[in-house]
Amino acid sequence: MMTRREWMRQAGGVTAIAAIPQLLCSRGLAQTAANGGQAITGAGSLKDHAAARGLLTGCAVNANLLRDDEDFRKLLAEQYNIVVPENCLKWNILRPTAETYNFADADSLVAFAEANGMKVRGHNFVWHEALPGWFAATVNRDNAQKFLVDHIHTVGGRYKGKMHSWDVVNEAIWIPDGRPDGLRSSSPWFQMLGPGYIDLAFRTAREADPTALLTYNDYSIEYDSNDAGRKRTAVLALLRRMKADRVPLDALGIQSHLHAISKEGFSRGVRELIDGAKALGLQVFITELDVNDDAVATADMTERDKIVAAVYRSYLTTALDGPEVKAVLTWGVSDKNTWLNNGTKFRKQHPERLQRPLPFDPDYVPGPAFYAMRDSFDEAKKR
Ligand code: G3I
Repeated sequence: MMTRREWMRQAGGVTAIAAIPQLLCSRGLAQTAANGGQAITGAGSLKDHAAARGLLTGCAVNANLLRDDEDFRKLLAEQYNIVVPENCLKWNILRPTAETYNFADADSLVAFAEANGMKVRGHNFVWHEALPGWFAATVNRDNAQKFLVDHIHTVGGRYKGKMHSWDVVNEAIWIPDGRPDGLRSSSPWFQMLGPGYIDLAFRTAREADPTALLTYNDYSIEYDSNDAGRKRTAVLALLRRMKADRVPLDALGIQSHLHAISKEGFSRGVRELIDGAKALGLQVFITELDVNDDAVATADMTERDKIVAAVYRSYLTTALDGPEVKAVLTWGVSDKNTWLNNGTKFRKQHPERLQRPLPFDPDYVPGPAFYAMRDSFDEAKKR
């Protein structure tokens, strides 16, 4: 994670210098200066505006920030009514060895949420990524089923009754693997257990925690492009097949990692996803919203922020048009901590500058994306 000083150094340029007086203010004063005195807490918070429409709103939480950063904790409690751990419920964090579990960070997050009246999403039970170092040499065709079932019973059981929802299976569709059903055959879970691992995970999750809403979660399914369309069709076909086979499934998670600059829109894509989920009686959650601004040409941060906010606005206007979407979560809170700034992998066009994909700036001052979210909630129908 970056300190504010490092961030300012990297941000560079005239806009960073112009921002210095604001960064030096206390948070409250900075907010007042930034938005002409509009309240952003209490009745002005994201969660109050969302709740007025029957919506949950939240964010992915970085465990280090939750532990070490009091301003971060304050911001979470002020703004959100649901949280999801960014990493600490993944196998690589939870399972230091094949025999042991480390629940410290996940327990802290759940306790924090309980103390502040927030709901929690579990992310995730089964994914092809974020597996621990010992996994490949230990888990095989003979014991994979036992590992998967034991993991879900242990983790799901520990938080039984405390989870709003669980991403039971994450990102199981990957068209480039070439299967007609679109399943990601390169996933270690698929390779060890075949396509049945998905149903097994959902059935086990229901046993472990009967009240959590069991969710299938995936990305790059929102846009109107042919590629996204193929993936979307495969996701919806998977969900249809699961429902036909009476697999316990309650919700579709649309990750929503968006791009500030894109040739394609998302109106048709989002509508198809929501209508498809609705036809199956599923709830819909926007689970990982953020806007990658690497391709924005201008270096002017004010302009960049406006462009990002416009994407938030049009995406949420589309997604919240009907009553199906019940929760909107961003993947992180502030530009101080976003996976898009982990190394330069997602800063190919502008490696020298940090991305600004989230509603709060690195100093936890609400940016245009915050107001875009709040306005979109206000304009949504009550659900
Ligand atoms: O904590 C270590 C640190 O000690 C070490 O120095 C550093 C060196 O690389 O790595 C740090 O861990 C990284 C961790 O993020 C915390 O920043 C891991 O390498 C990195 O792989 C991990 O990435 C996470 C990624 O999932 C893989 O688990 C991202 O934070 C997280 O935002 C991302 O989230 C995923 C969702 O789960 C699923 N949907 C896509 C989304 C974005 O990729």
